Amino acid sequence: MDTLQHNNHTVRKLRKTSAVASFDCGDNDLNDFISNESLDYQKARLSVTYIYESDLGHVDGYISLANDRISLSDFENKTDFNRFRKKRFPNAKRIKSYPAVKICRLAVSRQMKGQSIGSHLIDYIKTMYLTNTTAGCRFITVDAYRDAIPFYEKNGFVALNTDDEDDVTRVLYFDLMDLED
Ligand SMILES: CC(C)(COP(=O)(O)OP(=O)(O)OC[C@H]1O[C@@H](n2cnc3c(N)ncnc32)[C@H](O)[C@@H]1OP(=O)(O)O)[C@@H](O)C(=O)NCCC(=O)NCCS
Repeated sequence: MDTLQHNNHTVRKLRKTSAVASFDCGDNDLNDFISNESLDYQKARLSVTYIYESDLGHVDGYISLANDRISLSDFENKTDFNRFRKKRFPNAKRIKSYPAVKICRLAVSRQMKGQSIGSHLIDYIKTMYLTNTTAGCRFITVDAYRDAIPFYEKNGFVALNTDDEDDVTRVLYFDLMDLED
């Protein structure tokens, strides 16, 4: 899945040679990443960014990904990890860590918020990883900003733990098997 058309926009992988000139989602760190850091991260193989680009070449959203895993160290104790494993896996599949892909950053431009672009980018990733048979990947994870938690919940993500309930960010995950039911 190289590109995807949606409302006069295309979702495509950021090219190594083309930096994003202007982007404003209202968050300085996320603006700075797409304009000044995303290409270097891509070159260093630390993340891959997909942009939501208009037919006129303006970037109205992006999502940045890296490999991840869910393992014992993500939980407060072994009981919580076992509870997670019991819910999702039969005994034979209780391994030490489960492959995942992490949403490192996700943002939609200020003028375009609330038009389902963020949800569209999430759907793009879900489809991409559901159909990807190159390596095992069971979950999509994200360290979500508090304000964005309802957005992720609307897109099927759930909290991994209870101990980060009051933190600045909260770890959420989506089980790709939920799409195969
Ligand atoms: C969070 C964000 C990516 C959502 O993108 P979007 O295109 O506006 O979202 P969508 O239109 O697909 O979905 C919006 C839904 O999420 C809900 N929502 C919850 N929190 C939200 C938030 N902080 N911002 C926007 N929508 C939010 C809305 O209620 C809306 O639901 P509704 O359609 O039932 O009214 C975007 O608002 C953004 O870039 N925010 C600033 C950066 C950020 O917080 N990124 C997430 C980092 S973890």
